[in-house]
Amino acid sequence: MNKTVPTKPYADQKPGTSGLRKKVPVFQQENYAENFIQSIFDSLEGYQGKCLVIGGDGRYYNREVIQKAIKMAAANGFGKVMVGKGGILSTPAASHIIRKYKAFGGIILSASHNPGGPTEDFGIKYNIGNGGPAPEKITDAIYARTKTIDAYKIADFADINLDTIGKQTVAGMVISVIDPVEDYAALMEELFDFGAIRNMISLGFRIAFDAMSAVTGPYAKEILENRLGAPNGSVRNFLPLPDFGGHHPDPNLVYCKELYDEMMGDDAPDFGAASDGDGDRNLIIGKDMFVTPSDSLAILAANANLAPGYSAGIAGIARSMPTSGAADRVAEKLGVGMYETPTGWKFFGNLLDAGLATICGEESAGTGSNHVREKDGLWAVLLWLNILAVRGESVADIVRQHWAAYGRNYYSRHDYEGVDSDAANGLVTALRAKLPTLAGTQFGALTVASADDFAYHDPVDKSVSMNQGIRVLFEGGSRVVFRLSGTGTSGATLRVYIERYEPDPGRHGLDTQEALADLIAVAEEIADIKARTGRDAPSVIT
Ligand code: G1P
Ligand code: ZN
Repeated sequence: MNKTVPTKPYADQKPGTSGLRKKVPVFQQENYAENFIQSIFDSLEGYQGKCLVIGGDGRYYNREVIQKAIKMAAANGFGKVMVGKGGILSTPAASHIIRKYKAFGGIILSASHNPGGPTEDFGIKYNIGNGGPAPEKITDAIYARTKTIDAYKIADFADINLDTIGKQTVAGMVISVIDPVEDYAALMEELFDFGAIRNMISLGFRIAFDAMSAVTGPYAKEILENRLGAPNGSVRNFLPLPDFGGHHPDPNLVYCKELYDEMMGDDAPDFGAASDGDGDRNLIIGKDMFVTPSDSLAILAANANLAPGYSAGIAGIARSMPTSGAADRVAEKLGVGMYETPTGWKFFGNLLDAGLATICGEESAGTGSNHVREKDGLWAVLLWLNILAVRGESVADIVRQHWAAYGRNYYSRHDYEGVDSDAANGLVTALRAKLPTLAGTQFGALTVASADDFAYHDPVDKSVSMNQGIRVLFEGGSRVVFRLSGTGTSGATLRVYIERYEPDPGRHGLDTQEALADLIAVAEEIADIKARTGRDAPSVIT
């Protein structure tokens, strides 16, 4: 039996960079999740009788919202839902399932790298039939609908057993509980030379992969240990927990400090890696060598042809604007297209669909390719392993050789988290007002070449996205970029991205923060960060 339940709109359901993210208690308000899910359905057309993929990263409240989503899909006329066993689907695996089974779309429940638990974060995101995040046209429609919604539809049946694989028909809809790992692992076997990686591991190559008690545990266990033969224990924290074991599942040098220290210490494994809450981000650390995500993108693109899935070469590279220009030099050398997009994976979808780009990446530890329409943490790990197996060199050697060939882009991001929203907006407004006067200004040895608020003209659908981050470019290729996060859930997060290009191999061994010190000082001078945010130092430096 289907019910139509009257409801009242909430004013705060604007999807951000990756869907709607709020604290769990916000989502637990009456009809809050239902309103947003119904607003998604109300913004779509033509899904009657079609398949919807549903899954999440296993965080607190995942199962409850999955039950609601299944019942609402039935009442709204979907013909089938595919849901990961235990409610689990990593974001890249969900993207793959949508594509492989030609589903109409998918609902992914995650707040990515944000902590989970009863008072932590939750999120709902809609992905379209190409497997990628809904484009702005759809997220705008969803937001508009959340403001006027007055009822939602839900079927009245008992909760579905999510822990047993199998198919059943309930209220006229097929509900298929699937193995969350199988299809994804098979795809990875197609793309990468598992034989070569297995051989390298059998010769003693040691891996430490930290799943951070989040969604990649079951995937990494199956692929790295079961299929590639890495010894038991190579994958750590592999059991997805609703509160991620109290950890902050963001694979950066702050939250993976233990792994980092291990990789810098005596007897370090050959390869250290981690992924985030929903499995789309990655951290790559070699023995004595942290690989910045921007460098990782460039190195993966330059060496992708060593993996079977990319042996024909790549069509182009895309990176988000704040990501360093290291990949641009690779694209230039390969003679392939280079695309600079706003922050957020959704902007890569059109480029991938049109075959303009094959490999994409963001400075925020996201890398991926045309195999799905999301960034993919384990994919990056496996491509690295494939490259290491073929080249037979260490991570550090490969990185240094890359710098020697292309020059080094020193790069760092300074985040000011939980800043007062008005203060953050005031800072950006003041910066914007300064833009027209900045070009030509001298700061010590640095001269501003140009300054603007990044606007993106999508070459495929011709849409324009304005105000995507303030860029101050200096002569010689250095840069400072300012933008406000679209994924935070408390106050505002100011992100300052600092980059300096260094062609001279004799100067490739500097400490990053020292190499960037003059630019960091200029960023402060231009944006007045301390005075406006009341912060003496960033909360996170990556
Ligand atoms: C952040 C990252 C961005 C990434 C997004 C989703 O968004 O900066 O690159 O696509 O998370 O993982 P932000 O909080 O900066 O808007
Ligand atoms: Zn994520």
